[in-house]
Amino acid sequence: MNKYKGLGFFHYGVFVSLVLSAVFAYNLFYGDRQLFLPGDTTHGHHQIEMECEACHVESFESGEPMQQACLSCHADALDKARDTHPKKKFTDPRNADLLANLDATQCITCHIEHSPEITGEFGVTLPEDFCFYCHQNIAEERPTHKEFEFDSCSDSGCHSYHDNRALYEQFLQKHINKPEVLDKRKSLVPNGLSLWKKKHSEQLPLTLKQHDAGSLFAASADVDGIVQQWANSGHAQANVNCGSCHANEQGETVGDLALEVDSCTNCHERQSQGFKQGLHGMRIGADLSAMQVSNAKLDMHESAAHQELTCSSCHDPHQPDLKAAALESCLGCHNDEHSNNYVGSAHATLYEQELEGQIEQGQGVSCATCHMPRTKKGKSVFVEHNQSLTLEPNSKMLRPVCMNCHGLEFSTAALADKELIMRNFSGEFDSEHPSFNMVRTRLEEKRKRKLERKKDRANQ
Ligand code: HEC
Ligand code: HEC
Ligand code: HEC
Ligand code: HEC
Ligand code: HEC
Ligand code: HEC
Ligand code: HEC
Ligand code: HEC
Ligand code: HEC
Ligand code: HEC
Repeated sequence: MNKYKGLGFFHYGVFVSLVLSAVFAYNLFYGDRQLFLPGDTTHGHHQIEMECEACHVESFESGEPMQQACLSCHADALDKARDTHPKKKFTDPRNADLLANLDATQCITCHIEHSPEITGEFGVTLPEDFCFYCHQNIAEERPTHKEFEFDSCSDSGCHSYHDNRALYEQFLQKHINKPEVLDKRKSLVPNGLSLWKKKHSEQLPLTLKQHDAGSLFAASADVDGIVQQWANSGHAQANVNCGSCHANEQGETVGDLALEVDSCTNCHERQSQGFKQGLHGMRIGADLSAMQVSNAKLDMHESAAHQELTCSSCHDPHQPDLKAAALESCLGCHNDEHSNNYVGSAHATLYEQELEGQIEQGQGVSCATCHMPRTKKGKSVFVEHNQSLTLEPNSKMLRPVCMNCHGLEFSTAALADKELIMRNFSGEFDSEHPSFNMVRTRLEEKRKRKLERKKDRANQ
C-alpha cells in the first residue's frame, strides 16, 4: 500500500514538473520570456536580450556552443583590435599554468550575463583588480609600477585587456612630445562616388526625364517631389534608378515594396556589414526586426520614439546627404548631455566652417568624425558604419580619430577625463597624462645609460 502511495506521489511530482516545464517552454517560445531572465542584461546586449537563442544556442548551459555564439558576433572586432590576451596565448604551454587561477580562454569567465549587481564597466563581471592573478610580479619587473594598485591597471589611458593598439610603450615613445593640435592635420573625405564615376566614365548621370517611376506608386505619394530629389542625388549620378531599389523579382518597378536594409546591402556590402555589427544594427544583424528607438536606455528625443533604425534613419534614400547624416540625423534621436553639448563646442565651430567652405574638407569634426570615422583602404575612403568599434574603451578612438589632428598625450588625457567627454570636449582640462611622464622618465634613464656607456668607453 505504502509503496503504491509513494508511487502515486511520484507520479504527481512528475505531473507537476511536466506541467511546469510545459509552462516554461510555452513562455519561452510564445509567451513572456522576461519571466525567465535571471536579471537585467548588460548595456551592450539589452537590445537582443529577448533573443535568448543568440547566446543560449542549444540549452541554458554555458560551454562551447555559447563560446561560439560570443565569437560569432565579436571575433572580427577582437581580431581587428589585435587582442592582447587571445586564446592562443594561454594554449601556449609556458602560460598554461595561469589558467589554474582564471580560465581566460572562456569569455564568460569575465563576462557573465543578467547579473547587474556584479557587472562593471564594459560588461566585466570580475573584481577590478583581477589582473593581479597573472601579473603579480609587475612591480618587480617595472619599478615605475611600484606605487600602483591592481585596480588601476585599466584606468583610462593606461592599459586595456583586449585592445592596446594605442597603449604600448614603444607607441607612446614614438608619439611623445607632439603638439596639442597638429599643424598638418589629416583630411579624409569619402570618395565612393568619385571613384565610381572614374570607373564608369562612359556613363552619364541619369536625368529627371530618365527615371523609371512609372505610375505604380500610390496616388497619395509625392512622386514628383521624390523624382526631383532623386535627380539631385548621388544615386542619379551613379546611374541608380528608381527601379534599382523598387523592383520586384520580375524586375518591374513597384512602389509598395517593403524596402529594408537588404535593398541597400546589394550595392553597399561594406557599410551594411559595419552597421549590423554595431549597436545601431545589431538586431537586424541577428535577423530580428529593426531596433525601436523607444527601447533605448540612453536618452532619446520623445519625437523620435516611433522611429526604427535602418539605413533610412540617417540617409534619405531619395537624396542621401552625407553632411545631414553626420550631425542632424544623430541629434534627431540622441538627447543625452554629451550629444547636446556638442553644439557650441570648438569641434562644432570647425565643422560649421567646413560646411561654409572656410576650411578644407575633412578638417571639421562632426559626430560621425568620432563615432563613424572615415577609413582608408587602398585608394578607397569609406565610412565605418559600426559605431561601436571606436567606443569602448574609448582609447580605441585615439588612432583612427584623434591622432589625425592632435598629439597623442593631449588626446589620451582628454579621453581619460569623463567630465570633459560629458561637455563634448569644451572647456579646461588637464592635458597631461601620467603614462607619458613614466615614458619620459624611462627615456631619460635610457639616455643617461647611453651617456655613461659612452663615457666608460672613452675612459677605457
Ligand atoms: C547576449 C547573450 C545572452 C542572451 C541574449 C541571453 N543570455 Fe542568459 N546568460 C548569458 C550568459 C553569458 C550567462 C552566464 C552563463 C554562465 O555563467 O554559465 C547566462 C545565464 C543565464 C541563466 C542561468 C543563470 C544562472 O544563474 O546560472 C538563465 C536561466 C538565463 N541566462 C536565461 C536567459 C533567458 C530566458 C534569455 C532570453 C529571454 C537569455 N538568458 C538571454 C547570456 C545571454
Ligand atoms: C580574463 C578576463 C576576460 C576574458 C576571458 C574576456 N574578456 Fe572581454 N573584457 C575584459 C575586460 C577587463 C574588458 C574591459 C575593457 C578592456 O580592458 O579592454 C573587456 C571588454 C570587452 C568588450 C567591450 C570592449 C571592447 O574591447 O570591445 C567586449 C566586446 C569583450 N570584452 C568581449 C569578449 C569576448 C567575446 C571574449 C571571449 C572571446 C572576452 N571578451 C573574454 C576581460 C575579459
Ligand atoms: C548577436 C550578436 C552578439 C552576441 C551573440 C554576443 N554579443 Fe556581445 N555585443 C554585441 C554588440 C552589437 C555589442 C554592443 C557593441 C559593442 O560594445 O561592441 C556587444 C557588447 C558586448 C560587450 C560590451 C558590453 C558593455 O556593456 O559595454 C561585451 C563584454 C560583450 N558584448 C561580450 C559578449 C559575450 C561574452 C558574449 C557571449 C556570451 C556575447 N557578447 C554575445 C553583439 C553580440
Ligand atoms: C589569465 C592570465 C592573465 C590575466 C588575468 C591578465 N593577463 Fe595580461 N598578460 C597575460 C599573459 C600570459 C601575457 C603575455 C606576457 C608576456 O608576453 O610577457 C600578458 C600580457 C599583457 C600585456 C602586455 C601586452 C604585450 O603586448 O606584450 C598587458 C599590457 C597586459 N597583459 C595587461 C593586462 C591587464 C590590464 C589585465 C587586467 C585587466 C591583464 N593583463 C590580465 C596574462 C594575463
Ligand atoms: C536608393 C534606393 C531608392 C531609390 C533609387 C529610390 N527609392 Fe523610393 N524609397 C526607397 C526607400 C528605402 C523607401 C522607404 C522610405 C522609408 O520608409 O522611409 C522609399 C519610398 C518611396 C515612396 C513612398 C514613400 C512616400 O514618401 O510616400 C515613393 C513614392 C518612392 N519611394 C518613389 C521613388 C521614385 C519615384 C524613385 C525614382 C525617382 C525612387 N523612389 C527611387 C528607396 C529608393
Ligand atoms: C543598384 C545599386 C545601389 C543601391 C540598391 C543603393 N545604392 Fe547607394 N549608391 C550606389 C552607388 C553606385 C553609389 C556611388 C558610389 C558610392 O558612393 O559608393 C551610391 C552612393 C550612395 C551614398 C553616397 C552618396 C554621396 O553623395 O556620396 C549613400 C549615402 C547611399 N548610396 C546610400 C544608399 C542607401 C541608404 C540605399 C538603400 C536605401 C542605397 N544606397 C541603395 C548604388 C546603390
Ligand atoms: C533613429 C534614431 C537614431 C539615429 C538617427 C542615430 N542613433 Fe545612435 N543610437 C540610437 C539608439 C536607439 C541607440 C541604442 C541606445 C540604447 O540601446 O540605449 C543608439 C546608440 C548609439 C551609440 C552608443 C553605442 C553603444 O555601443 O553604446 C552611439 C555612440 C551612437 N548611437 C551614435 C550615433 C551617431 C554618431 C549618430 C549619427 C551619425 C546616430 N547615433 C544616429 C538611435 C539613433
Ligand atoms: C547612424 C547613422 C547612419 C546609418 C544608420 C547609416 N549610415 Fe551611411 N553614413 C552615415 C554618415 C554619417 C555618413 C557620412 C560620414 C562622413 O561623411 O563622414 C555615411 C556615409 C555613407 C555612404 C557614403 C560613404 C561610404 O562609406 O562610401 C554610404 C554608401 C552609406 N553611408 C550607406 C549606408 C547604408 C547602406 C546603410 C544601411 C546599412 C547606412 N549607410 C546606414 C550615417 C549612417
Ligand atoms: C571628439 C569626438 C566626439 C564627438 C565630436 C562626439 N562624440 Fe560622442 N562620444 C565620444 C566619446 C569619447 C564617448 C565616450 C565613450 C566612453 O568612454 O564611453 C562618446 C559617447 C557617446 C555616446 C554614448 C553615451 C553613453 O552615455 O554611453 C553617444 C550616444 C554619443 N557619444 C553620441 C554623439 C553624438 C550624437 C555626437 C554629435 C552631436 C557626438 N557623440 C560627438 C566622442 C565624441
Ligand atoms: C579633424 C581634426 C580633429 C579631430 C579628428 C579631433 N579634433 Fe579635437 N580639435 C581640433 C582642432 C583644430 C581644435 C582646436 C580648435 C580651436 O582651437 O579652435 C580641437 C580642439 C580640441 C579640444 C579643445 C577644445 C577647447 O574647447 O579648447 C579638445 C579637448 C579636443 N580637441 C579633443 C579631441 C579628441 C579627444 C579627439 C578624438 C576623440 C579629437 N579632438 C578629434 C581638431 C580635431
